[in-house]
Amino acid sequence: MNGKSVLLIVGGGIAAYKTLDLIRRLKERGVTVRTVLTDGGAHFVTELSLAALSGEPVHRDMFATDTEGRIGHIQLSRVSDLVVVAPATADLMAKMAAGLAGDLASALLLAADKKVLLAPSMNVKMWNHPATKRNVETLKRDGILFVGPAAGDLACGETGSGRMAEPAEIFAAIEAQLIEHRPLAGMKALVTAGPTHEAIDPVRYIANRSSGKQGYAIAAALALAGAETVLVSGPTDLAPPYGIKLVKVNSAREMLAACRAALPADVAIFAAAVADWRPETAADAKIKKAGAVPSFRLTENPDILAAVAQGTPRPRLTVGFAAETENLDANAAAKRTRKGCDWIVANDVSDGAVFGNDSNRVHLLTEHGVEQWPELSKREIGERLVLRIADALKGIEA
Ligand code: C5P
Repeated sequence: MNGKSVLLIVGGGIAAYKTLDLIRRLKERGVTVRTVLTDGGAHFVTELSLAALSGEPVHRDMFATDTEGRIGHIQLSRVSDLVVVAPATADLMAKMAAGLAGDLASALLLAADKKVLLAPSMNVKMWNHPATKRNVETLKRDGILFVGPAAGDLACGETGSGRMAEPAEIFAAIEAQLIEHRPLAGMKALVTAGPTHEAIDPVRYIANRSSGKQGYAIAAALALAGAETVLVSGPTDLAPPYGIKLVKVNSAREMLAACRAALPADVAIFAAAVADWRPETAADAKIKKAGAVPSFRLTENPDILAAVAQGTPRPRLTVGFAAETENLDANAAAKRTRKGCDWIVANDVSDGAVFGNDSNRVHLLTEHGVEQWPELSKREIGERLVLRIADALKGIEA
């Protein structure tokens, strides 16, 4: 996204404070952000905040003589790659649907020659009002894009739909629009992520420390690269990445069934920390604390990676993960052979630091040997892996 630019219109809603975080995220990734602050928006965030975070002058007035000569209201969208409205109020959407152009924001939206993405934010009754519904329908027909709103507690004290999407989600929607290189377009991908929960009884389970972050980052990168991506996830607290199909499961056996249902795929990446064992039988009712300490036998779970890598239809490329505490490369190489997968992404978990962290240091084992990658964020590992996958798939028959 480095070098891209976004025209960001900040409407009058309490969610405008979240837009400040969005600007920060975009700037961090090298995106130029030019802002327009409506009169309503100025009640919630200041021009100074927008200017300081964006590093650009803030545009307020349609007839400002200082800027109109140099960068007029039409120009603002011409020099941007995408127009984003966050928060998009009911009023602004109504103006857009009607084609009004009486202030800088609505004039810019009418004159825009780029895609427009709205992040609506309003009271639930306003969002559900037939007038707003009509306007949303009209705007969608006009090709306007939407992210959110979400359902939940609203600032006005009511509950329901109308809460502006979180900055991370708006960021992902922007990223999906700005990225042009889609080397996996037309391909199908399957990713597993997170831990599995293996029931002891209806309230207790065996689990592990996997956060799911790496698998989610890989799924996000695959979707951005254009792949139709199914993410089969064990229990995690993570927000689903933009543009993927999420299948939530609990146990290893559910995960295997969901993976089978997602086949055929061009590439499958098994980042989940699947529990190796489960209690042989899960009690139907909660085991009472009174009495003897219970003991239970464990039985082996199915190996999902091995089942898919050695089954049919086999993905053209299967990638497993190996978390090892000793002899990283040797153990990972043995695992690659044993499981029948093409690549292994190996990481050293001897100090326990990987779990839940945002960065990782991995080795990639392929048929050509071992590559040691430097310490990278889990997002960067996802992006790098996806570029490698796109490269490899060019050489593997469909
Ligand atoms: O055997 P181990 O658990 O070390 O193998 C790790 C790799 O195998 C990971 O890619 C993991 O997702 C996958 N795996 C699996 N099903 C299991 C155990 C591991 O898919 N039951």
